[in-house]
Formats: sequence, C-alpha cells, structure tokens
Amino acid sequence: MASLPNPARLAALLLCVLFSAAAAARYAPTDNHLLACGAAAPVVLPDGRRFVPDSGCASTRLRSPAPSLSSAAPNSPPPPSPLHAAARVFSCRASYDLTVRRRGHHILRLHFYPFAPALSASRFHVGAEGLVLLHNFTASSPVVKEFILPVDSDVLVLTFVPDSDSTAFINAIELISAPEELVGDIGTLVASGGAAQIDGLSSQVFETLYRINVAGPKVTPFNGTLWRTWVNDGPFLIGSDSSKSMVWSFSGRIAYPRSTRLMSREVAPDNVYRSARSVKPGHNVTWGFPVPAGSRYLVRMHFCDTVSKVLYELDFDIFVNDRLAVKDFDLSSATGFLAYPYYIDFVVDVEDEGMLKLAIAGSKKSRSDEVSGILNGLEIMRMNKTSGGMDGDFPVALDMEDIVTKGIGEFARSLLCGFIFAGLFVVLVLLVLKLKAELRNKGLPLDSGDGKLARAYQLVPSKTDY
Ligand SMILES: *[C@@H]1O[C@H](CO)[C@@H](O)[C@H](O)[C@H]1NC(C)=O
Ligand SMILES: *[C@@H]1O[C@H](CO)[C@@H](O)[C@H](O)[C@H]1NC(C)=O
Ligand SMILES: *[C@@H]1O[C@H](CO)[C@@H](O)[C@H](O)[C@H]1NC(C)=O
Ligand SMILES: *[C@@H]1O[C@H](CO)[C@@H](O)[C@H](O)[C@H]1NC(C)=O
Repeated sequence: MASLPNPARLAALLLCVLFSAAAAARYAPTDNHLLACGAAAPVVLPDGRRFVPDSGCASTRLRSPAPSLSSAAPNSPPPPSPLHAAARVFSCRASYDLTVRRRGHHILRLHFYPFAPALSASRFHVGAEGLVLLHNFTASSPVVKEFILPVDSDVLVLTFVPDSDSTAFINAIELISAPEELVGDIGTLVASGGAAQIDGLSSQVFETLYRINVAGPKVTPFNGTLWRTWVNDGPFLIGSDSSKSMVWSFSGRIAYPRSTRLMSREVAPDNVYRSARSVKPGHNVTWGFPVPAGSRYLVRMHFCDTVSKVLYELDFDIFVNDRLAVKDFDLSSATGFLAYPYYIDFVVDVEDEGMLKLAIAGSKKSRSDEVSGILNGLEIMRMNKTSGGMDGDFPVALDMEDIVTKGIGEFARSLLCGFIFAGLFVVLVLLVLKLKAELRNKGLPLDSGDGKLARAYQLVPSKTDY
C-alpha cells in the first residue's frame, strides 16, 4: 500500500498553491474575444494579449463575408498600434456573432483606424443587443470606442450597417466579461432639486468618454487592470491656481477591503489610487470635460486617502455641474482605514452646456490647514438615451434576419451592394497601381510577385452570397 502524504506536507503544498494563486490573481474573463479584423495572422500587443484574425475563429462567426484591407504600405510610418495594420470593410450590413459563455456585463471595445481615404470617408452605424451604439459614425483619427453593457443572450450580435452610399469598417474588436464589482446598481442623482439616490444603473448601457488618473502618469493596458487607459487630469483643470491645490504620490500599499467583493483592483488599479490632487480649506479645485449635450452621464469619482497621516483629517464638499452633490464628505468614515480605495457614482443630466464640471471644495471645518479634500481618479460615461440607442431611437434596422425574409427587394439591394463592393475594389487596385508607379518613379526597389507592394492594399475578395 502506498504511503499517504503526511498532513504537514499536504498543508505546505496547499499553502504553496494558494500563494501562487494569489500572486497570479490576475482577472481572467470568462468571455474574452480579441479579434484583429482583416488581419492575416494573430497580433500580439505589448500588454501580452493575442488578437486572432476574425476569420476562422470557432467562437466567432462573421456573417456576410467582407473584404479585408491591410495598411502595410512600404513607406508609411508604422501604425500607432499593431492592431491598426488591417481592417475589415463592409459595403453591406454585416454581423459578428460573438459567443457569450457567461451572461452579464461585458466590456466592448471597437478600434477604428482610418488608414486609407476610403476608410475616413466611411459613414456607418454599429449596433449590439438591439441597441444602436454608434449612429452615423465616422472615424477621422484613430479611436477606440468603449461600451459597458449588460448581455442577456448566448450570442452577442455585433452589426455594422453602412449609411446609404457608404461603407463600414473595423480594425479590432474586444468583448470581455466584466467583473461583477465593476458596475453597481445605485448612484446619486444630482439634479436642480438636490442630490437623491437613484437605482437601476446596472441595466443601462455606458459609453466611456474619459478615464482620468488625477495628478498621476498615464496608465496603460500594460500597467493597469481590465486593459484600460487612464490619462492625466492636467488638460481638464479649470482656472488652475496651483496655490490652492497640491499633488501627491504614494508608494505604499493600497489595501482592498476583504470583507466586501464590491471593491477590487479591477474597479481601478493601484496606479490610479497612488496619485491624488488635494484642495486647501476654503478653496475649490475644478475640472471641466466637454461632453455631448442632451445626455445623462455617470461620473465615478475615486478616492483613496494616501495623503493624511491619521484618520478623520479631511472634510470637503463635492460639486457636480455647480450643484452640491455631497456636503462634508468624510472619507475616513466611509472606509475606516487610510489607503483604502472608495468610489461614488454620480448621475447627472447635461442639457445644453456641453460641459461637465466637477469640483472638490475644501471645508474650513477640516482638521488640517493644508489638505481638506482629495480626488484620485475619475471616469465619465455617457448613458443610453432610450432602450433603442445611445443617441435615441433611429430607424436603423440592426436585425440581420430581416434581410433573409425580405425577398426580391433585398435581392436588388444586394446586387447594388455587390456593385459598391466591386467599386471599392477598383479604387483600391488603382491606388496600388498609383503607389507602384510613384515608387518606380522614385527608383525604389520593387518586389515582384507577392512582395511587399502587392500586399500594400491587399484586398481579399471573398465569395459574397448576397
Ligand atoms: C448621416 O449623416 C449624413 C451627413 O451628415 C446625412 O446626410 C445622412 O442622412 C445621415 N444618415 C442618417 C441615417 O442619419
Ligand atoms: C505605465 O506604462 C506607460 C507605458 O506603457 C508609462 O508611460 C507610464 O508611466 C506607466 N505608468 C505607471 C503609473 O507606471
Ligand atoms: C466652489 O464651487 C462651488 C460651485 O461652483 C461654489 O458654489 C462655491 O462658492 C465655490 N467655493 C469657493 C471657495 O470658491
Ligand atoms: C438603456 O438600455 C437598456 C437596455 O436596453 C434599457 O433597459 C434602459 O431602459 C435604457 N435606458 C433608457 C434611459 O431608456
């Protein structure tokens, strides 16, 4: 009979396993679709994530096959991100079916990099879960559109609909399960009548507009959590009189409460809580963010007292769009410890100012004469206006199945789409020829066959079944 491992050894082994699990406790999303659209080979980012080409991936199905476009022109500067090297172009409505293994909140990021004139001229709509996320969208510069949305089906259908006589395109797609603690249900509505509790936030769709690491360096997908980017608040300070505020950085440990699952590094990374801007008693520090008017916003303010030596030093007011949102905020009572992160979700309607103003106002009641209030991080998200769209309801049919059942009229339209597709192809071929000619004139070496140039504007015309 084989001897059983003795209990001490077993315990040691168990501890070992636990420790290594804790060390490697990086968030592992259940759903993790990373697609490099139009790419011929997988793309690996500096943060270590691997994006697979959008064709031939088992958990993704692209309906209505569309051409891909590659920007690897020999003389052009390298694209800002390896994800920007290729795109998928749609001349007709097309969809990605993304398998959802765990229902609930997901983070959806759409990467757009218009590397060819045909792409910056594209005008299109993007929808998911029956909701228009982007309406009449054009991308004139590289942009990542991020949405946080509840997903209540086993497949997320991401649909691209070109506006009439235009095309749609996409460079990369991320669909990631969000950790449960990321989206809360309750917030503080700040309106003309005062501040009041509001619930139902967890059923809304959010579009991220700003992520700010107050008084700190940029945090990238490489050194943050959930592969987000946080930027410095400097450009958004209003009337910055440096004598009334101070900048802090902290190298100690940020402690996350063990008792509650509501706060973790996934809500905001240590790098965001390590830096702060403080306000002196009797003064204000104000930030202003340009936002589209006529929308409702979620403002998440992150606090972590890495500034005080003892508890109960701070006492400050919080203003949202010049309205008092919290009076005499006492962070120590909220957390019970120093260097403990905490956030508050405010909800505010921005009418026609097109500017969202946030302020911390130091109270003369605070114990310290130097530091009365602090802010560590900020997130500003636009909420959907209706259950049909971020910008309201639009007559953009997002349902793919419509096409199949519409019969002959749709067949005619599909033919037209085919023509547009052919047109785009011709334009690209001309572009390649022109480029070739230019290079020849410059006496640059030219690869023959399927060398670099042939791949410059590679278009893969796939069989279209319209
Ligand atoms: C999109 O915008 C263009 C130009 O602003 C306009 O001509 C077109 O009608 C718009 N399309 C929709 C569906 O709103
Ligand atoms: C995070 O990494 C970026 C480069 O990717 C760097 O510029 C930045 O300073 C880093 N931030 C922190 C807080 O370490
Ligand atoms: C701070 O800002 C608020 C809102 O704009 C204002 O009501 C208050 O008077 C300001 N306080 C100081 C000390 O400037
Ligand atoms: C936003 O969309 C969700 C999901 O479709 C819906 O439940 C919610 O009512 C919408 N919000 C508004 C303000 O219509």
